[in-house]
Amino acid sequence: MTPSKKAGVGSPRSGAKTSKTKKKNGAGKNASKVILAATDEILAHYPLEEASLIMVLQELNDQLNWLPPKALERVAKKLNVPFGKVQGVATFYRAFSLKPKGKKTVKVCTGTACHVRGASMLVDELKRSLEVEPGEGISEDGNFSLETVNCVGACAMAPVAMIGDHYYASMTPGNIAKMLKKEKPE
Ligand code: FES
Repeated sequence: MTPSKKAGVGSPRSGAKTSKTKKKNGAGKNASKVILAATDEILAHYPLEEASLIMVLQELNDQLNWLPPKALERVAKKLNVPFGKVQGVATFYRAFSLKPKGKKTVKVCTGTACHVRGASMLVDELKRSLEVEPGEGISEDGNFSLETVNCVGACAMAPVAMIGDHYYASMTPGNIAKMLKKEKPE
């Protein structure tokens, strides 16, 4: 993304807050170095002023798939913005993740139509396959996170799973492995 790209951070989240991540959150020393290097590289493309804040956060989120606390601290310092304000902006917008995410997020619709057609069995199979809980953690290989979502407007295809823009219709637990294989990042 170039500095001229406008931040499209979407709608505010409701009641968002940081929470403990259970595992695989990239919190090691090497991970910290990578995070800070990425943050500095992004900051180098922007004027070091508060007006750059949202664009910097968006680019960071795009690159790291989440906004680690260390990155937020660095951004606050370099842009000379109070840390609380940076954290407030990061928390406010739903497009920003304050938890580590895999390269791709598997979303399972748990709306009514999907629920009655077995969405919970899909979630259970994904939890078993990826060894993660919905909204928590990333798979061992770093490729996938798992989320449950409300009706995505494709009830005729229930139960539905999504990865990026791809909809997987009439899913069964037996189809999960094939879907994950197809979606595995290069
Ligand atoms: S309930 Fe799942 S798409 Fe509508």
